[in-house]
Amino acid sequence: MSSTTHHNFKVSAADWNKTSSNYAANISKAPMSIPIFHLISLLDTHLPFSSATTILDVGCGPGNGTAAIISTFHDTLPPGSQILSTDFSEGMVDIVARTRRAKLEELSEESKEREIWEKVQPLVMDATDLSPLPDASVSHIIANFVFFMTESPEKALTEALRVLQPQGICACSSWARCQWMELLDLAAQRSFPGFGKPVHEMPVIAPQWTNAEGIATLLDNAGFRDVQTEYVEAPIVAQDPEGFAKFFLGSGNPAVTWITDVLSEEEIREVEKAFEEMIREVCERNEEGGYVLAGTAVLAAGKVLH
Ligand SMILES: C[S@@+](CC[C@H](N)C(=O)[O-])C[C@H]1O[C@@H](n2cnc3c(N)ncnc32)[C@H](O)[C@@H]1O
Repeated sequence: MSSTTHHNFKVSAADWNKTSSNYAANISKAPMSIPIFHLISLLDTHLPFSSATTILDVGCGPGNGTAAIISTFHDTLPPGSQILSTDFSEGMVDIVARTRRAKLEELSEESKEREIWEKVQPLVMDATDLSPLPDASVSHIIANFVFFMTESPEKALTEALRVLQPQGICACSSWARCQWMELLDLAAQRSFPGFGKPVHEMPVIAPQWTNAEGIATLLDNAGFRDVQTEYVEAPIVAQDPEGFAKFFLGSGNPAVTWITDVLSEEEIREVEKAFEEMIREVCERNEEGGYVLAGTAVLAAGKVLH
């Protein structure tokens, strides 16, 4: 079974399988999907989708990148193009396959969108080993919140570079800041001593993946050229901090299992409470009264020139 490292933290395909439905229904909408439209716009600016051959969605999760490309560019994608939606979690790939089947049923036979969905291939594949794909066979790669959490981000970048054709483009993202993780960490620090358990270390993203300069250097070292970066605000707005804390701690997402895997149900309720308190204490509120948990994504795109 392949697994990925969050710095000093393991996230396996099995972990992502467990949370795939919850992720698809909740977390993947916001904040995870906010940077997707920026990523696909970066891709299109560097190499218009009108000249796409094969588009590769790496670590596609429930397929939001794939869906965004189709909904935005179905009229410009050439008839011969295809989309490979790949993830190392079978649970995620199954969700993409179900979405594809649903789209084929709901969209009219003549629609261009349906034509493109027909050519989507959901595939189980590890980002660090794209060996099923030949060299220079892909025009566009989108990797939204994936590379930094693989066992070897360097290998993932080298593989992306290998499969891209000359002038091919790769756009990826990572987190510069996640206030929900900061607050969860504080909630854990508050709660764990009372349980008589040592406070676990929160998984952290390797520093180079948390800022534009770091990611640009990583892409450049891997052999990408014309590297461009940007920051995008991608907050979570919690209308009901109690409900949000309960949902988040119960999500099975690898962002919370470092806490929930080592606690009893009762202890988890206490962390939930502390997390809710932290949100109420620290977060700013928007005009609708929602608590804004700040999130900043860092995006990068790089080209293959050879
Ligand atoms: C934060 S989610 C992002 C999902 C999707 N890109 C989106 O924007 O919603 C990370 C995804 O990367 C996948 N993943 C993590 N490590 C991977 C690896 N080594 N190879 C392929 N997929 C991986 C996980 O299974 C999960 O679906």
